[in-house]
Amino acid sequence: MADEPLLLQAAAQARQHSHSPYSGFAVGAALLDEQGRLHTGANIENAAYPEGLCAEAVALAHLVMAGGRQVRAVAVVADSARPVTPCGGCRQKLREFAAADAVVLSGAVAEGGPVLRGRFTLAGLLPESFGPAHLAAAD
Ligand code: THU
Repeated sequence: MADEPLLLQAAAQARQHSHSPYSGFAVGAALLDEQGRLHTGANIENAAYPEGLCAEAVALAHLVMAGGRQVRAVAVVADSARPVTPCGGCRQKLREFAAADAVVLSGAVAEGGPVLRGRFTLAGLLPESFGPAHLAAAD
């Protein structure tokens, strides 16, 4: 996979575009696709709170609209003492386009660039997940 610092750096850069006046919690995400391309996103909140978008969802929309079909690796960067992982909804969204062993990196903002705080797999974050095979098995 692409170099991990590069993926984290892309997520940190994307985070600069966050629109998060309500939570004050800026998040950036970067996805590596099957062609080796990076797609990024930041959280975009809304005065109508539930309409906000997570950074991962924005990055995924960019990947799909650029013709990407596989998420090979994910990086999420935020300013948090605990490693930030994708929310439940985003885990499911990513699962549609990622293999079970796709790597999910969690980075924290630091002076001089993001630092890796956690490394997970998608299956580790979303075990026994629902997917296309369940639909195919339906009567
Ligand atoms: N958020 C993300 O964008 N990605 C995550 O992985 C966790 C949470 C956003 C949603 C909301 O705008 C803010 O962070 C606080 O929950």
